[in-house]
Amino acid sequence: MSKIIGAVEIGTSQAKALVGEVGEDGSLNVVGMASRPNEGMRKGEIVDFRKAAAAVHAALEEAEKMSGTTVDSVYLAQTGAHLDGQMLRGSAFVASSDNRVAVDDLQRAESEAKRRQPETGRSYVHHVRTPIVLDEKVVEDPVGLIGKKIDVGYWSIDGDDQAIRSALHVISNYSLEVDDLILSSIASATMVAGPDLRRAGSLVIDLGAGVTDLVLYHQGYVAYTGVIPVGGDHVTGDLSMGLRILEPYAEKLKIEHGKASPDPSDDEEDVWIIGNKTIGDRSVSRKAISDVIHVRVVELFEIIRKELGSLLDANELKGGILLTGGGSQMPGIEQVAGKVLGLPVRKAGFPPGIEPELAQPENATVLGLLHYGLQDHSLPGQKKDQEQTGFLEKLAHTFGIG
Ligand SMILES: Nc1ncnc2c1ncn2[C@@H]1O[C@H](COP(=O)(O)OP(=O)(O)OP(=O)(O)O)[C@@H](O)[C@H]1O
Ligand SMILES: [Mg+2]
Repeated sequence: MSKIIGAVEIGTSQAKALVGEVGEDGSLNVVGMASRPNEGMRKGEIVDFRKAAAAVHAALEEAEKMSGTTVDSVYLAQTGAHLDGQMLRGSAFVASSDNRVAVDDLQRAESEAKRRQPETGRSYVHHVRTPIVLDEKVVEDPVGLIGKKIDVGYWSIDGDDQAIRSALHVISNYSLEVDDLILSSIASATMVAGPDLRRAGSLVIDLGAGVTDLVLYHQGYVAYTGVIPVGGDHVTGDLSMGLRILEPYAEKLKIEHGKASPDPSDDEEDVWIIGNKTIGDRSVSRKAISDVIHVRVVELFEIIRKELGSLLDANELKGGILLTGGGSQMPGIEQVAGKVLGLPVRKAGFPPGIEPELAQPENATVLGLLHYGLQDHSLPGQKKDQEQTGFLEKLAHTFGIG
């Protein structure tokens, strides 16, 4: 029997919903997908519940209609500047007298790592496992091996309860369950940076409308995540102010004529702002448009450079820096990013097998949610369901839902 699963990203510009069918062999087939403009968000956080909920519900309804089926539960992306990531570590001594590692030992190390609770008013949204170390050696699965001490680590992301609760309620209002919360950056990276790139070390930057999501992988594991509350909306806002035009026209100019840095030929060429050349329409030079964009784009990558500091190490990032999200479609953005970050940057591609109409950078998060959700992220010896139920039960309890 195949299984139907859903995914939702409540994006700042668009709410996106996907319906996937998982075959018995684990293969994933996207059978429905829809986006709806979302006016209920600012910088990745819900500011108008009813508008955000209406956009998500319309997208879900359309995706379900396309698929000819319905979903009972979804994976939900999480972003917003309220999120905070840190490494939690735990260790345990091997209990048996012959020093053979048992599942129990591993679980003690895990509990120790997850012991620290976030501050009042905050909850964990995502724990991402890092390598298991047995007597200072990285091992895939220590169970059955001989050793004295196990160390485990989790890159753990906590967030503001109010923000998490709003997102969960958008879904429960549609009578759906949330299978799991997944960090937007990690979802996007699952789609655009395969295991080889993650092992080589890479940084994935998802340029959204309200936020820029970052995830950095070292040796295959998450070493850092971050959310910067600057995105394409800021570029549009700057154009609107700088050229004194309404935001919808600024957005249109950006998408049709925007470049991340001006090129010499732009000097002579003018474009019409509204485009119908009627009274009220006027023209601006392409250079004026790209000058405004350039300043904001440089500033964004400077923030990223400062935020990452010494993590931006060419020796640790042999897989490179990859751009995705709707904003990555801006011509020339990878060159500007490369100059500011001092490392090669490229636009991310999708793996083969993703249908061309879905393989668009703005879909990286919602597609990645399905793929990440289907993978097993539990500790060796632990059932996937155990880990997830435990985590979501706790969340449901915290928020009084479920
Ligand atoms: N061709 C293009 N050139 C430049 N920017 C573009 C282009 N196409 C889309 N964008 C920008 O991409 C952004 C939307 O991207 P995306 O759909 O990934 O964001 P989102 O998921 O809705 O928002 P967020 O992740 O910030 O909550 C908008 O700011 C839009 O202007
Ligand atoms: Mg997004």
